[in-house]
Amino acid sequence: MSNRMEYVTLGRTGIRVSVAGLGCGGFSRLGLGTGKSETEAVALVREAMDLGINLLDTAAVYGTEGVVGQAIKTVPRDSVVIATKAWIPRREGRSAAERAVASLDNSLRQLGTDYIDIFQLHGVSPGGYGQAIEIIAPALLKEREKGKLRHLGVTETGSSDPDHAMVGRAVEDGIWDVVMVAFHMMHQNARTKVFPGTMANRVGTLLMFAVRNIFSRPERLAAALRELTASRQLPRWLADAPNPLGFLIHKDGASTVTEAAYRFVRHEPGVDVVLFGTGDREHLRTNIASLLAPPLPLADRQTLTKLFGHLVGVGLDPPYSMPGFSSA
Ligand SMILES: NC(=O)c1ccc[n+]([C@@H]2O[C@H](COP(=O)([O-])OP(=O)(O)OC[C@H]3O[C@@H](n4cnc5c(N)ncnc54)[C@H](OP(=O)(O)O)[C@@H]3O)[C@@H](O)[C@H]2O)c1
Repeated sequence: MSNRMEYVTLGRTGIRVSVAGLGCGGFSRLGLGTGKSETEAVALVREAMDLGINLLDTAAVYGTEGVVGQAIKTVPRDSVVIATKAWIPRREGRSAAERAVASLDNSLRQLGTDYIDIFQLHGVSPGGYGQAIEIIAPALLKEREKGKLRHLGVTETGSSDPDHAMVGRAVEDGIWDVVMVAFHMMHQNARTKVFPGTMANRVGTLLMFAVRNIFSRPERLAAALRELTASRQLPRWLADAPNPLGFLIHKDGASTVTEAAYRFVRHEPGVDVVLFGTGDREHLRTNIASLLAPPLPLADRQTLTKLFGHLVGVGLDPPYSMPGFSSA
């Protein structure tokens, strides 16, 4: 299996990006969320770049922009694609524009750079989309003219918008060059609700929630299966099986559930970059290898779609570490 990074064009941005992107939020926050030091986090980002990852996704609320800023000091600025985000409360009104611009300026300071490649509005709900497009986007487009950012993007909320209503509108509006979308083995509806629109409009996609807790912690998967069988959304045997996703693990398939989860999303038509979050060097390497591995065998993909294709909103756990903030 070759571990040479692969690159794709991120929709109409035209930017060449690695198919694996380092997520600097989630539960790991590059390790800061699991007790590691800033020095270790900086080393992890540098190792990711050495392994060919050129897209780093952070956000003002993650508290990792400073780490990313330190890590990129040693590489040419144009060798790395920085995506960051501003979170603006939904009913902010007119001051939403000022707040977004202040967040952009602060991100530039934290990251120690004079431009952001992809500046995203963070966790925009369907109800908050009007504010995003009418008030915030015009102000950010002016900042783009000043050279502070190259492309605008928007990320969905995950758990409170499992049908992708916000992104469904955003891909048609011509403002957002990139969208961040939730898609995984047990939440597959972006296949019909998002990717046809992103591909038709050449909007770049960053994939989130490929693994999260549900495919990295067996007890979280077991709890989800218990709930889904109790509500009759899944057959009972799945909750009773000692290794419910064991059918994915075999000689010609994946070697772990986590590997299967990354391979499943990576080859979906319409997916450009798969983000993964980690603070663990071993996971960094194995996840890159998973994302560069071939698609899961057809029979396994068919089983996943037959079993789970109808599920919506499973496993989109919000972070615990950021009180009051519902999306990371
Ligand atoms: N609305 C939004 O804007 C939003 C929402 C969610 C996510 N995101 C973005 O998407 C990125 C990815 O999301 P995510 O952080 O939840 O990533 P993920 O890749 O779906 O899940 C990562 C979780 O699985 C663990 N893990 C990773 N690799 C593993 C492996 N090989 N074996 C076992 N466990 C493994 C990680 O812990 P370890 O540290 O132990 O590896 C972490 O807890 C975020 O960092 C963020 O940039 C954005």
